[in-house]
Amino acid sequence: MDTQLRDYPLTSTIVKLKTGRVQLTIIEEPDWFLDQLSRKDEEGRLYLPYWTYLWESSIGLALYVEKIGTQFRDAQVLEIGCGFGLAGIVASQMGAKVIFTDAERDALHFVQHNAEQNSVSQHADFVQMDWNTPCFNRKFPYILAADVIYEEHHWQPIVTLLHSYLASNGIALFSEPNRNNASGFFKLLSDNGFAYQKSTCPVKLDRTTSKVAIYTVRRVNA
Ligand SMILES: C[S@@+](CC[C@H](N)C(=O)[O-])C[C@H]1O[C@@H](n2cnc3c(N)ncnc32)[C@H](O)[C@@H]1O
Repeated sequence: MDTQLRDYPLTSTIVKLKTGRVQLTIIEEPDWFLDQLSRKDEEGRLYLPYWTYLWESSIGLALYVEKIGTQFRDAQVLEIGCGFGLAGIVASQMGAKVIFTDAERDALHFVQHNAEQNSVSQHADFVQMDWNTPCFNRKFPYILAADVIYEEHHWQPIVTLLHSYLASNGIALFSEPNRNNASGFFKLLSDNGFAYQKSTCPVKLDRTTSKVAIYTVRRVNA
């Protein structure tokens, strides 16, 4: 067990997919950390440690990745704001080489541990990256993004990141829990040369079933 994980109260959960399953080590009672790890960002906005939760959007995206699984064989995948890394782990199980990224170093310790315990870490990388200051100099055929568009100040940096990193025929898969403001992000994407298709996926988490929206995003005129 990584020493960094020992700083947190841990629990284990199994996410059952249609055909497969993923064992995740996650944080028990993450609500407690909202106070402990909250801080002000450089603009003076309240920053909350949302990586400490497993979100239904990651389960919805994982189910979608499993559904289109054969596309991921040997594919190079970038996951942004990965949190515990569920969607990327499923892409790895499908044969992808995944670079997991998150602004939070401790989230990456968890995703590395989770990739190891699901036997997919050998083809994965774990990189601390803030989407405001992206650090790669290459393009990806697939980008995964589960529940990263909840705050409007994240939208433009994420659109800029897509411009830089999505290959010309590439696909970015976003998921989010049908928040009212999500349409604003997808309008911004449309205004910036991307097209998208939306579908929905029922997800059960903590005995509650909710509908997660899945967006398949491509460049227009790719
Ligand atoms: C709502 S959580 C979603 C986590 C995970 N994808 C899921 O669905 O369970 C948002 C994630 O985005 C990450 N994040 C927030 N701001 C970020 C930034 N500026 N750059 C990169 N990641 C960021 C957080 O650390 C967190 O892991």
